[in-house]
Amino acid sequence: MKKSLFYFSATGNSLAITREIANKLEDCQLISIAEAVKKDKYDLHSDIVGILFPVYCLDIPKIVKEFLKKLNFNGNPYIFAIATNNGKPGFALDSVDKLLKEKNQKLDLGYTLIMPGNSVVIQDHTNCREEQIVRLNNSKVIISEMIKDIQKKKKGIIEGDFSVKARIKRLIYKLAVYKIYKPQNHFWITEECILCGICKQICPKDNITLKNKEVRWNSNCEACLACFHWCPQSAINLGKNTMDKIRYHHPKINLDDIVK
Ligand SMILES: Cc1cc2nc3c(=O)[nH]c(=O)nc-3n(C[C@H](O)[C@H](O)[C@H](O)COP(=O)(O)O)c2cc1C
Ligand code: SF4
Ligand code: SF4
Repeated sequence: MKKSLFYFSATGNSLAITREIANKLEDCQLISIAEAVKKDKYDLHSDIVGILFPVYCLDIPKIVKEFLKKLNFNGNPYIFAIATNNGKPGFALDSVDKLLKEKNQKLDLGYTLIMPGNSVVIQDHTNCREEQIVRLNNSKVIISEMIKDIQKKKKGIIEGDFSVKARIKRLIYKLAVYKIYKPQNHFWITEECILCGICKQICPKDNITLKNKEVRWNSNCEACLACFHWCPQSAINLGKNTMDKIRYHHPKINLDDIVK
């Protein structure tokens, strides 16, 4: 039985969960959405398909949407998705289901999972170390229950907040982040930068250039914050209030796991 787990992850939460599932399900192929999306279309011949990603602005990341649109299904696999989030999953899994329906498929099981927050876009939504540890410990228990459900091929649950209020908030949040604020216009670097190029390498959208000893952000930003959190010098800032922010990544995930 062929099992494919597709993941998108900037700070490692979604990748760590993907790996835990892969360890339990066995013989899984792990595929980075940031890589897979570079193909014109993606042919899928799997019996079990997992899609794991962070919630952005009460929805799925743009890169995940782009990838799902490129999927070409052969057969009708069992499809599950897990949306890691900071407590407000909104419409993320509904969006996955809708995109799958465009392909005559459906989301069989959609779970949300609270993990440490990583966003400092417009406002700081990260958690203190103590809260991060609580969430990481809780997630271990929850994920083992989720894995049991996946193994049983449980169907019929799609978690999230699909209220009218959440729908309006999603619209405002997306407009505010991507159309008005535009993170690419607010990144800046301190003198600590050693021009190592890691920010350029880690960006899933190839949105960073290093020219004439200068780091530049272009306009194709996902707002994933991989550059911000993984800079080895903590030299990248976003807006005025991130200088003293501790950068976050999942403790079991290292830079090479995200870059490859
Ligand atoms: C731009 C941006 C927007 C986010 N929006 C939400 C949100 O609407 N709701 C929520 O619960 N978490 C939100 N988050 C938090 C992430 O979904 C969460 O921290 C996730 O686990 C990060 O996963 P990763 O480590 O795999 O990248 C947002 C994060 C970023 C960077
Ligand atoms: S990752 Fe940090 S130190 Fe390296 S080039 Fe980018 S900003 Fe400079
Ligand atoms: S520039 Fe930074 S925040 Fe924007 S997509 Fe690239 S890594 Fe993510």
